[in-house]
Amino acid sequence: VSLLEDGYKLIVIDSNINSSPLALVRVKEILQNKNIAIEEIIFKNGDIRDVNFINNVFKEASLANNPITAVIHFAGLKSVFESVKNPSLYWDVNVVGSLSLLKVMEYYDCTTIVFSSSATIYGDDWSGSIVESTGLEPKSPYGNTKAAIEKILEDFFKISGNNWRVANLRYFNPIGAHPSGMLGENPLGIPNNLFPYICRVAKGEYKNLVIYGNDWPTEDGTGVRDYIHVMDLAASHRAALDYLFNNEPQFISLNIGTGRGTSVIQLVDTFKRINNCDLPYVISKRRKGDVPTLIANNQYALSKLDWSPSKSIEDMCKDGWRWNLLNPKGFENR
Ligand code: WQD
Repeated sequence: VSLLEDGYKLIVIDSNINSSPLALVRVKEILQNKNIAIEEIIFKNGDIRDVNFINNVFKEASLANNPITAVIHFAGLKSVFESVKNPSLYWDVNVVGSLSLLKVMEYYDCTTIVFSSSATIYGDDWSGSIVESTGLEPKSPYGNTKAAIEKILEDFFKISGNNWRVANLRYFNPIGAHPSGMLGENPLGIPNNLFPYICRVAKGEYKNLVIYGNDWPTEDGTGVRDYIHVMDLAASHRAALDYLFNNEPQFISLNIGTGRGTSVIQLVDTFKRINNCDLPYVISKRRKGDVPTLIANNQYALSKLDWSPSKSIEDMCKDGWRWNLLNPKGFENR
């Protein structure tokens, strides 16, 4: 939505193993409702590990005199929990998939890429506000794959004679939904993450939230995270693309967070207040791999990009709940 509002022509590639093709239908509806005329979104269903599939997408675009000028690479598996159970799948999809994509990009001289990285690559032996120069010590196969892809991108940058334009966006904790309530996250199965789980408790799907520990060294004893509205996150991608297009070739990594921390209890209380709903919870022991506090130092991103996160925790709770209320079963029901 953010890119289309900016006039970009999009080709979307997705295997849909973790998403619904109906999301693109909603994207078009959102633009139509805003009376924004858009070019047809070209959708290609396939797996990025399939080099021939990727090659055909780039070839078709070139033959149509519409060569792909940049890639925003989100395609990957993203559950820390699942990656611990199935590391080879994560290395295959995330790293082999990225390599397939990059080889085809190189072949078609498409050398601008915004990569969806993650704060999880900083590991767990720190607490507090993180700068990009912090040493990378991922503690899960998922985090390892994200760090590995950043390294591969750096090598593509170097072997090109520093001629690629690469931005690694290290997401902190994205939550919320598009304010129209027509587009939001729709995790398959039981969500590992806090916010979608809270939404399901509020809908009555689950009896209560389980809070993983209230004995952390934080203000109220529960985990503190840097939650960022998904629309502020989307805007950072558009800003990163604009930045890369308008500056010399470079390789940069940026923390995409708000610089503000919110505890589990604070998020629960805000959600209840804003959405006037009940949210029963129980306290359990800490979850393996969790850290007490994870907050972005986002000064570098603010200084480099024409971007500044503006949405509050209240906005995130309100928009996330609207999506759940209007789509209790996700995209499949209307
Ligand atoms: C947030 C807080 C939990 C669930 C993960 C990935 C990271 C990124 C974002 C991909 C913590 C607590 C959670 C629950 C709880 N994903 N919690 N009960 O762990 O900060 O980050 O998602 O890039 O890579 O590591 O997010 O939402 O799982 O947890 O008490 O049922 O909520 O302990 O303090 P996390 P989260």
